[in-house]
Amino acid sequence: MSEEIEKIDLGWTGERVSRIGLGLWQISETWGVTNYEDAKKIIETAYENGVNFFDTAMVYGDGLSEEYLGKALKELGIRDEVFIATKIPGQYLSRDDVLRATQLSLKRLQTDVIDLMQVHWPPLWHNFPTCEYMEALEQLLNMGLIRYIGLSDFPVELIESARACLSTTDIVSIQVRYNLVERDAEKEIIPYALREDLIVIPWSPLAKGALTGKYTPDNLPQFQDVRSREPIFHPDNFKKIYKLVELLNEIASKYGKTPAQVALNWIVTAYPNTLPIPGAKNPQQVLDNIGCVGWRLEFDDWLKIDQLSKDIRINRVV
Ligand SMILES: NC(=O)c1ccc[n+]([C@@H]2O[C@H](COP(=O)([O-])OP(=O)(O)OC[C@H]3O[C@@H](n4cnc5c(N)ncnc54)[C@H](OP(=O)(O)O)[C@@H]3O)[C@@H](O)[C@H]2O)c1
Repeated sequence: MSEEIEKIDLGWTGERVSRIGLGLWQISETWGVTNYEDAKKIIETAYENGVNFFDTAMVYGDGLSEEYLGKALKELGIRDEVFIATKIPGQYLSRDDVLRATQLSLKRLQTDVIDLMQVHWPPLWHNFPTCEYMEALEQLLNMGLIRYIGLSDFPVELIESARACLSTTDIVSIQVRYNLVERDAEKEIIPYALREDLIVIPWSPLAKGALTGKYTPDNLPQFQDVRSREPIFHPDNFKKIYKLVELLNEIASKYGKTPAQVALNWIVTAYPNTLPIPGAKNPQQVLDNIGCVGWRLEFDDWLKIDQLSKDIRINRVV
């Protein structure tokens, strides 16, 4: 049985999903959750506490994330209660690969239909025409193998081109890097999505853990995971970010919340069409992150965070 949680309309679809989702990249060597029982507990905790939107991808753990999600949903008997979003990587975007990759995803996920199939990133080195993969996705949709189509990491110009390839449907969502210290999506993509009634799915909404308050400039681990080369955690950048973390801490204690909850709530408060998908490495983090919805920051506090965060420049050439 799942708890009630704040919901969001999924764009034009008429579907209602939880206002916050669960990102499942964490189920991979890259992040470190590789034990099935640990992964199941994370998924079960999210579901029991109201989350019904699960974001995975073919490349997460080379299929492990999809496999564990499918297995857990089956064992828990909740496949029909949840919304599965997965992704096809940019190198599998020939027509044949889109069809074959989807067939493999369906098997790993142990389902007959994928709710949201997203193009993970545009083709970078293979020169696949945009309409080739968009039409292949539409064919899958017409055959009932996927229900909706989304794009991830696409610029607005290419989103427009991709949408023009579809004849009987439209995309539903755009997934973007977006958090309090990486706000570039506000410049074009989020306004475009608002205008077009598309859902924005912010990824890395906690800046890979940097906004949670548990890392400080004096306590920055030598990460052994995907963060080992992440500019956010370069000491010069993190020093700037930490001023914001201190403010998040201060505001969090005023509301009886945690810095992670405030950082996520800031996004939810800012834009009605956002559905953040924080990743979690254990059930405690899941519960903490879920506590970011069902309430709103007061405008004064929201603005303080806005003003401080908008001037933080992450130097990527470090
Ligand atoms: N479309 C794309 O190109 C793309 C790219 C990246 C990610 N994504 C999706 O977005 C999801 C989330 O992004 P992300 O994994 O990059 O980063 P994130 O959600 O910003 O950060 C996740 C990390 O922060 C820490 N954390 C999470 N909740 C916490 C809490 N309440 N308290 C303390 N620490 C907490 C955990 O790591 P530690 O405990 O080790 O600190 C966790 O692994 C992914 O799972 C994936 O589904 C999509």
